[in-house]
Amino acid sequence: MRILVTGGAGYIGSVCTELLCDRGHEVTVYDSLARGHRSAVDPRAGFIHGQPFEPGHIAAAFQRVQPEAVLHFAGDILVGESMQHPGRYFRNNVACSLEFLEAARACGVRKFIFSSTAATYGLPEQVPITEETPQRPVNPYGEAKLMFERILLWYHRIHGLEFVAFRYFNAAGATEQHGEDHRPETHLIPNVLKVALGQQPHVEIYGTDYPTPDGTCIRDYIHVVDLVEAHLLALQPGICGFYNLGNGDGYSVREVIATCERVTGRRIPALARPRRPGDPPRLVASAQKAMRELGWKPRFPKLEDIVATAWAWHQKHPEGYPD
Ligand code: UFG
Repeated sequence: MRILVTGGAGYIGSVCTELLCDRGHEVTVYDSLARGHRSAVDPRAGFIHGQPFEPGHIAAAFQRVQPEAVLHFAGDILVGESMQHPGRYFRNNVACSLEFLEAARACGVRKFIFSSTAATYGLPEQVPITEETPQRPVNPYGEAKLMFERILLWYHRIHGLEFVAFRYFNAAGATEQHGEDHRPETHLIPNVLKVALGQQPHVEIYGTDYPTPDGTCIRDYIHVVDLVEAHLLALQPGICGFYNLGNGDGYSVREVIATCERVTGRRIPALARPRRPGDPPRLVASAQKAMRELGWKPRFPKLEDIVATAWAWHQKHPEGYPD
C-alpha cells in the first residue's frame, strides 16, 4: 500500500516506518523534525519536511503522495508539559491533527490510523481498563486526544472514512535500528537506563505516596514492535474503531527500576520526589478487543524482554540519534 506516516521521525513512527518498509509498503514520512530525528527515518521511505499547521503544504503533500492509508503519529506526548501549556496540546494534537484528517478526506484516503492514549481514561475506577471504561481525562494531553477521537467518529459517520484509534498504554523497547530518544527525556525506562549507562547519577521517582502496594505509580508497558504490529493488522479493510494496546500487566515505578537493574546488571540509585501533576496512579489495559478483532498477539509480553531490547539500543546509541 501507499502509506503516509506523520511523525515518522519520532519514536513510535520511526519503528512503524521500519516495519512497513520491511513488509514492502511504499512509505512517505511527513515530519516537522521539531522533536523527531532525521536520521531516525528509514532510508527506504520518502521524506517530506513540513510543519503540522500548514494547510496548503499538507494538502499538496497528500495530493503528491496519494496515500491509501495515513498513520498519524505526529503530536505532543507529555502529560506534565500539557499541565503547563494546555494551549500547545489543543493546537498541536487537535487543530493540527484536523489538518491531516481534512487532507486525507480530500484526497480519498481509505484508512486513517490515529495514536490515542490511555490518558483519555483519566482515573479509572477499575482495572484492567476496557474500551467501554468511561473516558474522563485528568490532563489536557488526554483531553486533546479524546477530542480528536470524537472528530474521527464524526468523519466516519458523515464521510464514511474508516479510522482506527489505538489507545496506547506505555510504549517501550526498541528494534536494532530504532529506539527512544526524546530531548529532554521524560519517560521512565530511558531515564532509568541513562543511570545504568552512567549518564545520570540517579533516577527520580515522582511520587511514593500513591494508593498502590509500594506507593509508586503503576503502568502497563508494551513493546513498541507489538504496538506497531497492531497498526499493520489494522490496515485490513473493515477494521474501524477504538482499541486499547497494552499487555494487561501493571508494573510500579520501583518494579521497573528493579527490572532494569536485573537486565543491565548495574545498580540504579533512585530518589523519591514529589508527585508529577496529572499522573494517574494506575493504568493497566485489557487489550482483549484488539486480540479478538485484529488477531493481535504481543510477542514481547514480559517487561524484562522489553527492557532488554531498550538496553541493547541505548548501549549501541549512548548519545541517541546523531541529529
Ligand atoms: N516517572 C518517574 N521518574 C521519571 C519518569 C517517569 O517516576 O524519571 C514515573 C511517572 O511519574 C509515571 C511513570 O513513571 O508514574 C511512567 O511515566 P512516563 O513518563 O514514562 O509515562 P506516562 O505514563 O506519563 O505517559 C506515557 C506516554 C503518554 C501516554 C501514557 C499512557 O508519555 O503519551 O504513557 O499511559 F499517554
